[in-house]
Amino acid sequence: MLPANWRTRSDGPGHPGCRLAPMTTWRIGGEAELYVEPGSREELSEVVASLWQSGQRWRMLGGGSNLLIADDGVKDVVLSLRGLKEMRVVEDRIVVDAGAHLHSVVRCAARAGLSGCEPLAGIPGQVGGAVFGNAGGRHGDIGSLVAEIELMAPDGSLSRIVPGEGFFRYRKSLIGDRIIVGATLRLAPADPSEISKRARGIIRARRNSQPGWVGNAGCVFRNPEGDNAGRLIDAAGCKGEREGGIIVSPIHANFFENPEGIGTASDVERLVERVRKRVAAVHGVELNWEVRRWTR
Ligand code: EPU
Repeated sequence: MLPANWRTRSDGPGHPGCRLAPMTTWRIGGEAELYVEPGSREELSEVVASLWQSGQRWRMLGGGSNLLIADDGVKDVVLSLRGLKEMRVVEDRIVVDAGAHLHSVVRCAARAGLSGCEPLAGIPGQVGGAVFGNAGGRHGDIGSLVAEIELMAPDGSLSRIVPGEGFFRYRKSLIGDRIIVGATLRLAPADPSEISKRARGIIRARRNSQPGWVGNAGCVFRNPEGDNAGRLIDAAGCKGEREGGIIVSPIHANFFENPEGIGTASDVERLVERVRKRVAAVHGVELNWEVRRWTR
């Protein structure tokens, strides 16, 4: 466990009994017994090493955009890297901390006249979570840009790896339970106004076909091989279906919305099961969760 003074220091990184719902885009989830937000690599290293030495398990919280946290919260310590969000341009690369938001990276790249990040425009989340889950969409994903990843081992030591062939796949990576502290993205020089134009076009297309950032977790299901979960759910007639405070989005059927902010994790679980059964009955296709789930 963390040293007692870290748990209670008002200016320290530890916050006991912290509500997690506001830290997720779904606005769902109970409390973390202890939430820790280190402000530097050194502080992170001390936190991780002391958790590891005391056998205390932890979970990494990214931007909370692809995550369902159980209504009764989590027992493990929850670590957030949102205090680590620096980025710098080095020639044709951006070296960025895991806690930086994707939209800041997209903006920084456009200003520097570096192309490649545009497919990430309009995707909520932080760099760490995006690299972990190889975030992306129709126009490309982050994995194809990653030249190097900075990782922290459980003993608090830092290392760098160069992801090889097959490291990134559809919405997943081989990071495992290592902590992503930062990444280096390799980009290509281009005209800044062309880059911004392309990014704006991608954001516009997303706005026209998907609900906004708040009150949902992005796509709930992974796309099955050769098909599209949103299309299958829509064609099975599930748009607008409701369980408690959660509805299948009338805009894009693979988004489940929490429009009044009263939905719970169990509402989501029930709706997912209902939709999954309907899609299996109508199309004979088994849908699998894309959203990560935390239970106690
Ligand atoms: N469609 C429907 N009804 C719907 C939703 C979609 O018929 O309710 C049809 C569309 O008309 C289109 C097709 O399904 O013909 C594909 O839809 P879309 O272009 O929205 O792509 P998607 O496969 O549903 C993927 C990613 C999104 C990403 C978009 C855009 C997955 C599971 N989803 O969506 O990523 O934003 O491409 O690039 O890979 C996420 O991963 O959380 C996510 C939102």
